Amino acid sequence: MQTQLSFALPAGFDTELLAVLAWDTQTQKGFDAKPEPTLLTSDEEIASAVKSVLATGEFKAGVNETLLLHAPAGIKPKRLLIVGLGKQAKATVHSVRLAAGTAVRFCKPRGLKDLVLVLPEAELLPPGPCCRFAAEGAVTGDFDSDTYRSDRKDLSVNSFTLVAPGNVDHDRLHAAFAEGVIVGESQNFTRTLVNEPGNKLTPTILGARAAEMAAQVGLQWDVYSTEKLLELNMGAFAAVAQGSEEPPALIVLRYEPEGVTVNSDAPVLGLVGKGITFDTGGISIKPSDNMEKMKYDMAGSAAMLGAMRAIALLKPKVRVLCVVCSAENMPDGKAYKPGDVVTAMSGKTIEIINTDAEGRLVLADGLTYARQLGATHLINAATLTGAIGVALGMANAGAFSNDDATFEKLSSALETSGEKFWRMPLGDEYAELIKSDIADIKNTGGRYGGACTAAEFLHKFAEDTPWIHLDIAGMAWIDENRPYIAKGPSGFAVRSILEWVRSFA
Ligand code: BES
Ligand code: MN
Ligand code: ZN
Repeated sequence: MQTQLSFALPAGFDTELLAVLAWDTQTQKGFDAKPEPTLLTSDEEIASAVKSVLATGEFKAGVNETLLLHAPAGIKPKRLLIVGLGKQAKATVHSVRLAAGTAVRFCKPRGLKDLVLVLPEAELLPPGPCCRFAAEGAVTGDFDSDTYRSDRKDLSVNSFTLVAPGNVDHDRLHAAFAEGVIVGESQNFTRTLVNEPGNKLTPTILGARAAEMAAQVGLQWDVYSTEKLLELNMGAFAAVAQGSEEPPALIVLRYEPEGVTVNSDAPVLGLVGKGITFDTGGISIKPSDNMEKMKYDMAGSAAMLGAMRAIALLKPKVRVLCVVCSAENMPDGKAYKPGDVVTAMSGKTIEIINTDAEGRLVLADGLTYARQLGATHLINAATLTGAIGVALGMANAGAFSNDDATFEKLSSALETSGEKFWRMPLGDEYAELIKSDIADIKNTGGRYGGACTAAEFLHKFAEDTPWIHLDIAGMAWIDENRPYIAKGPSGFAVRSILEWVRSFA
């Protein structure tokens, strides 16, 4: 999809579809209250084209509600689409992200190839964020998970134009728009990886895709395999990998900001991702129902790679390194078994209770390695537990942290990312549940508090380095189409990780 920002008059575009936003400005409450949709543009030609249809009350400007007019009177576009933002009191710049996605997704099944979206007047919503978020929403709206379908190759929107009000600083809006495109494309990069089935994306291929991206955007990169794991004594990561014919990949990306004198006390951010390209559960094998979805068990690492892509392009003044631990979790003659004791890179011994609790094992060594490489602050992302979905549903991802100040930075980042994380507890009570008779620690802690015992397990490897663990198992995959985003991989966490990183610059 081509994207551009324009300051021309919207009514004059020769386009297949012009989209404008509206919100419900009703102030009256109670039984008799009627919705009052108000357009967010002061363009008089557009206003008069929609006047009569708005007067019917058929369109209520609900969240992502749409109304289409063919051959609108008095303006050049062939169609006019009104997209609702919901009630004015509740609408924010994030509603604009969704509305832009909704407009793009309205076009796709109808074969409409070009779209012009009118940005709200500057007095109604802040134009900078609106501009960025509209670009993000449009780009992410254009993604579908139909990579291997031969019948749907023609559905993409070719051209997206955002029309901004002329009375705002053009340079500032151009920068915001470009940023939104980068962020949206990085999120789609993540989604493309997550969408790949296990046979098309092995750890080796994930390594190659990461290296290709790194070379394109100017990151330093290294991709290692079994030999390096053994050399680093990554006994936990290697144990997970040993049950598969596919060799593991240890992927390291580095972002070094230009023109920044790096003093010794400057932060180095360590991004660590779980990259299980397929999780069968191993010897503790999973039931076959829905097992196909376990191709998305590398969503944490894909989120880190997407964030690194955006970081490389947006160039914050902070050093960042990224460690991805990728393996396939398989049952095999050589597979690790319940009861095995493995020694992690940190020297801690781990009793394996369940080979399906593999994510925490690969991350344990990833966290230790990131610390060894000099990370002063850690953030990891993983589809770690089904339990986080039980706790928080598909509305919030879980976030755990051993450091309030570092967590605070994530909370602030969410104001820009628009994503939802809920802070979950760590604590000695959970640590108690993962004590082992035979080793320092065991890899599961029983049925209750499964997301918390998994987090406490990782905590043992982050130790006292300020650290955040994001459990995105419930949020990385969307089961049903939404007006603004396709079902399938969500690319969740890319935007929040990016903003967290930028908050250090
Ligand atoms: N990859 C799964 C977690 C998961 C579940 C991700 C559902 C996405 C959707 C993880 O490796 C796993 O199997 N976790 C186990 C842990 C248990 C064995 C302690 C789980 O959640 O059941
Ligand atoms: Mn598992
Ligand atoms: Zn897993």
